[in-house]
This record gives sequence, C-alpha cells and structure tokens, in this order.
Amino acid sequence: MLKKITDTILYVGANDHDVDLFEGQYVVPNGMAYNSYVILDEKVAVMDTIDASKTQEWLKNIASALSGRKPDYLVVQHMEPDHAASVEAFVNQYPDVTVVGNAKTFVMIGQFFPNLKMQNTLTVENFGTLSLGKHTLTFAFAPMVHWPEVMMSYDSYDKVLFSADGFGKFGALDVDEPWDCEARRYYIGIVGKYGKQVQNILKVAATLDIQIICPLHGPVLTENLGHYIHLYDLWSSYTPESDGVVIAYTSVYGHTKDAVLLLEKELLRRGVPKVTLHDLARTDMAEAVEDAFRYDKLVLATTTYNADVFPYMRTYLDKLTERAFQNRTIAFMENGSWAPMANRIMKEKLAKSKNLTFAKNEVTILSALNEDSTSQVIALAEELSASYAPVKVQDDFIDPTALFNIGYGLYVVTSNDGSKDNGLIVNTVTQVTNTPNRVAVTINKMNYSCEVIAKTGKLNISTLSQEAPFKIFEHFGFQSGRNVDKFADFDHAQRSSNGLLFLDRYANSYISCNVISQTDLQTHVMFICDVTQCVNLSDVETMTYTYYQKNVKPKPETEKKGFVCKICGYVYEGDTLPEDYICPLCKHGASDFEPIG
Ligand code: FEO
Repeated sequence: MLKKITDTILYVGANDHDVDLFEGQYVVPNGMAYNSYVILDEKVAVMDTIDASKTQEWLKNIASALSGRKPDYLVVQHMEPDHAASVEAFVNQYPDVTVVGNAKTFVMIGQFFPNLKMQNTLTVENFGTLSLGKHTLTFAFAPMVHWPEVMMSYDSYDKVLFSADGFGKFGALDVDEPWDCEARRYYIGIVGKYGKQVQNILKVAATLDIQIICPLHGPVLTENLGHYIHLYDLWSSYTPESDGVVIAYTSVYGHTKDAVLLLEKELLRRGVPKVTLHDLARTDMAEAVEDAFRYDKLVLATTTYNADVFPYMRTYLDKLTERAFQNRTIAFMENGSWAPMANRIMKEKLAKSKNLTFAKNEVTILSALNEDSTSQVIALAEELSASYAPVKVQDDFIDPTALFNIGYGLYVVTSNDGSKDNGLIVNTVTQVTNTPNRVAVTINKMNYSCEVIAKTGKLNISTLSQEAPFKIFEHFGFQSGRNVDKFADFDHAQRSSNGLLFLDRYANSYISCNVISQTDLQTHVMFICDVTQCVNLSDVETMTYTYYQKNVKPKPETEKKGFVCKICGYVYEGDTLPEDYICPLCKHGASDFEPIG
C-alpha cells in the first residue's frame, strides 16, 4: 500500500490478514498492519522495514515511492522481526544505503543476520540528529518500549513523531474499527510491563510540537492527538481508565459461575456502571488482562485445584503480575468441596503487586451456593458498588465552593471614556462562538469600566500570564478608574488599532472587541462582543484563578480576626460578615470571603 502522509512522507507498509497469532500469542481477528515510511528530501530515508511475510510487497511499495531514486538511509527503530525482518533483503537490494541505528541495534542486526554485510552504517546517540535536507530527524531512545534498542524519531519539518511500537494497535488498516479497544489490548499485552519507560518517553514527547504520529502498527494519527496521549498516560501510569467491575472466573461444573452471575446481577442492581465477565477457560486471555487494566475493580473467582488455584486462573494471575498490575481494588471468591484455599493462594500470588486494596468481604462457596455463601455474595456486591453510589442531594442544594472548580483565567479589560484610559481585572472572559469569533465579558455594574463600555461599545482584553505580579492586581483591581488614572504612570501598555490600550507586558495575548449586545444580570452586565483583532504576545502560560490563589496572592495577615476576600486578599475585621457585604477593593460578594484562621 502506498499512501501520502505529507507532501514528502509516504506510507509504504502492508496489511497482513494471514497471521494466525501475532507475536506467537495474540489473536488478531482483523489482521495486522506492518508500517513503514519513506521520507523524500535531498536525502531519502526509509523508516524501518517490515515482517518477512510482506517483504516483496514492501519492496515494490518502496520502489514506487522512490520513482527511480535510491534510498540514502534505512532507519531501524526497532529490531523485532515484525519490523526488522526485511533488513537483509533491503540492504541486498540497495547495497549503498547507510543503515542507521544505535549501538544496541547493530548488535541485534548481527544476531538476526549473521551473514549480512553492510557497506555503510551510522550509529546514533540519544537525541542525535540526522539531516535529510529540510527534514531533520532527532532520535529519542525508548529502551524497553518494549525492546532495549527501541528508539523513536522526530521530524521537526513536518512535526511527525515516528513512534515505533508506541501508539500502535492490532488490526490491519483496511478494517475500520475503533482505535481505543485494540490499541489498549495491544499496549497492555505487549508494553504493559514497561509503564515507567513509557512515562519517560511521554515526558520527552511533551516537549515536542507533534502534529502527526506514525506508529509501526495501526493507523497514522493526525487528529485529536491529545486523546491518544492521554490514554497512553493512563495506561502507563496504571491508572484505571473506566469505572466498573471485571469478574474473571473459572468454573468446572458451573457452581462458581452461578455465584459469579449472582454477583453480576447484584452489582448491576446497585448501579455499578459496567460489569464485565471473563470465563478464563474460554475468553481471549489478552482481552481479560486488558479489562483488568482498564477498570478500577477486579473480582477473581476460582476453584481450589491440586492445592492451588485452577490452571487458567494461575495463568491469568501470572499475566497480570508480570505486567506490573497495580492500583486496583481486588475481591476474591473461592469454591472448594473439602478444603477451599483459593482466596489465600490468590492473595499470595498478588502479594508483590503495588497498591492493591483487597475487599473486606470474601466469598467461600462449599461446592454450591447456599444461604451463607449467597449472603457473602450480596455483601461483596454492597461493598464493591458503594463507591459508584449516585450523589444524593436535595434538588435545590447549592455548595458555592463547587463553583470554584470552574476554570478561570484572569484578564485586564481596558476601555476609554473619551478623556481617559481605564482598565480593570476580571475573571469572566469566555469565547462563546468561533464562527464568527465572539467572546462574552461580564463586568460588575459598580465598576466604572462597566459604564464606559456600555456607552462606547469597545474594549480590549489583555490575557494575564503567569509573569503578572501581585502589583498588577493591586493596580487594576484595588482602585477605581472613577478616582484615579490607572495608566498615568503605567509603562507597559501600547495602543491597538481600535485606539484602546493593551498590556504589552505581563499579558500573553490581547483581543480587541466591539460590543454587539448587552445582557443585564442584575449585579453585572454581560457584554457579547465581536472579536476584531487578536494577537499573541508571549508563550508564557495564562494566569489562571487557581494559579493566582496559590502563587501570586499574598497570604492573609493571620493576626487579624475576621474574613479574607479570596479574590483580592482584602481583610474584613469582625466576628460576622454581613450577607450582602461587597468587597470594597474587588467588588466580589460575601460568598467569596472565607474566615481567617
Ligand atoms: Fe511491533 Fe515490538 O514489534
């Protein structure tokens, strides 16, 4: 298959629908894709080779992509044979090519291809670079993701991350299926043990401007990259992705299964959002492992067998522990007709796993469910479902602190009354549409700016950055433009094309606006504005309300008794704060005050 990824990067990989078990163990009902890419520049680089079953198809794809040119480099990011099996065939076809790898790569090439003679090799270091012309590749080593020689390559020209096995999935590219499920089964099965190493490479990736991810399996990712990176972050940090209970069980004559089905029913009856069952003797074991890593709770139910647990459960526990299974709640159900001991043995097998919480309630079935074991199942269902219980509150309950969780930035809104520039601090700027670009700005009626903007219909918004010191908040927030000229001695402002000032320091951008409508909100007016100009000024992150509270606002003077304004730090001294109290500095109400001490 030949496909354009960018103007100068071509996909030259192949689909495989004949593979019976990928890596000798994973069923792949929708086949596999072995990806390889060609970068066409002053120099031509081929990114990885391909599985031996598709060598000829791949060489034809390369020849088409090259259109008569010769490849200058073969970059070998990963030596596992599903990618590197065709290195010898490629070098034989293009003997002048320079094979690019790291020191470990070349050791493995020697092992896999003892008869291969390479005329030209280039050994790269971690973060070493290779210029192809416009494209420059930077190599980031990703040891144990999931072999020791693995490296990823970043192309700064097209902003492409060639991610080796990272961000890959099971499934050929001519089958349309959701990414998450088969990518998760692939990741947990193949890379799951190496979460720490994946976290390390994600930290490197976070420093790069990545627009496209080209993995060695699965589709090229071009949109919504945050979604895939977020999932990789969850998986590699062993954080549960979804709420729900997985019940992995074995059952010889159906009695343990009866108990499992009862537990499933009791869990669902109690509102558990998802209950997934795996009969370990019949399920795809990789799917059962994947689900244990996906959900936050796991029930293990098995019979005592040869003074151990039933063999499929033993295998399952091995597969979990060898992948560093951790951070979950685990419950145990055992069945035994004369000496049930499976619960104890399962716990022992999980003893070295980190941060597992064992449920208090356990189930012991003596041959078949009876009144006693049925009660144990119900008690376990109660315990496991408790954390999913819906939040119950009165219909009109209002906890004002819940509103503090809304994310806010902080802004200086500037205006001009015809004779004087003015500016104030607000946290109430929101983009409301993008076609056309419109924002809402809400201002307290007691602020002079509200009057001025209502009359003139024009304003500028300077988005404060984390560099803004407390004095900016004092300057624009703690005094009124009715009494002072806030820009008289202020050195960090320029005029935009609408004639209003914006802050050219302590702000990372400014937006010029024309008001198109005003909504009276009793205490405030909401101005809906067309954006007429918006300009970035710096890369410094936006000052959020939370950042301001934690890092900028001075701590209150604790020797005073009373209430402190959480917005500006003003202290009201007294035993009781009047309900209708308004902060004289920032004009926020009593709900924004908290007791001192
Ligand atoms: Fe796709 Fe690690 O091989």
